[in-house]
Amino acid sequence: MSRTLWTDEAGVLRTVDQTVLPFERRELALRTLDDCDRAIREMQVRGAPLIGAVGAYGLALALRADPSDASLAHACERLAGARPTAVNLRWALGRVRGRVAAAPPARRASLAWDEAGRICDEDVACNARIGEHGAGLLRALAGRRPGPRGIARAAAAAGGALNLLTHCNAGRIATVDHGTALAPIYRLHAEGVPVHVWVDETRPRNQGAALTAWELAERGVAHTVIADNAGGLLMMQGRVDAVIVGCDRVAANGDVANKVGTYLKALAARDNGVPFYVACPVSTIDPETPDGASIPIEERAAREVTHMAGMLDDGSRASVRIVPEGSAVANPAFDITPARLVTALVTERGVCDASAAGLRAVLAASPA
Ligand code: MRU
Repeated sequence: MSRTLWTDEAGVLRTVDQTVLPFERRELALRTLDDCDRAIREMQVRGAPLIGAVGAYGLALALRADPSDASLAHACERLAGARPTAVNLRWALGRVRGRVAAAPPARRASLAWDEAGRICDEDVACNARIGEHGAGLLRALAGRRPGPRGIARAAAAAGGALNLLTHCNAGRIATVDHGTALAPIYRLHAEGVPVHVWVDETRPRNQGAALTAWELAERGVAHTVIADNAGGLLMMQGRVDAVIVGCDRVAANGDVANKVGTYLKALAARDNGVPFYVACPVSTIDPETPDGASIPIEERAAREVTHMAGMLDDGSRASVRIVPEGSAVANPAFDITPARLVTALVTERGVCDASAAGLRAVLAASPA
């Protein structure tokens, strides 16, 4: 089973617990609203499209237990509050709610379950299209003629490989399959184009070091994990041909919210003439949020900063303190990259400018 989220014959929702990767592959069975809510809050499942899909099933499971209007409203509110930044969660809940609200209570659970299944299938198809569109952009970079900066030096430094930098995990396990930012990379790799990925470790939760590195290794894609602050130097040295990241919400003006640290990569990319691409399905575009300043930024527990989780040399797992007791800690989980720093958005409907006009055009384009 290559999907990150699937259902079995008994109607149980199954996924992989991302809090124990890459050290252990532990399957999770999600049977209730509580299970789904907990999995999203504790980041056993994470990544904007995946939490949307789990939220959709969470609503179906809530309706299985109690199909009343009150239960529907309560489950929507509870799940929507689980993680505030990624709009995909709210989008998926709205879609399932819209599908069932007018139906008789007795039919709601099965309608919701089917709608959640459609959301998953569409996610897989969308990401495959993002892979095609993104691969087109990146292939064009690989074909560029040598120059003083960018592709020539990066390619030469890597024996001809296209060098991409990514932040956080916008891969297969952040979605139902394929990923968003990683989808074009998987596609190029499958076509035999030599690709090498610089993987930002992505403190504080290390989604890059733990998850992106794990899934790139699983697919045999060449990669190098770097400390979050190394990307600027690598770009300055001409060792990055493009940055490609996923995203949690695109505001109506093209500003983009993604994992904290993304903005600094976009600044470094602009300063060094490196293209900065953002890959996402159109469900991540939120026309109701006017700009980046209006996107709610999730503040997570201080412990994610004060401690680091990992594996000791004897194979046991541990969480160790790295900050003095008593130091104040802040943990904003996302940041905003202004539209002006985004070279292009890559969606399932095509590539567009990160601008109000670009977003309007892509939203008006026919679905893939
Ligand atoms: O806090 P996370 O791990 O859910 O953050 C994930 C990201 O920031 C991803 O880049 C984003 O959700 C896109 S996933 C295809």
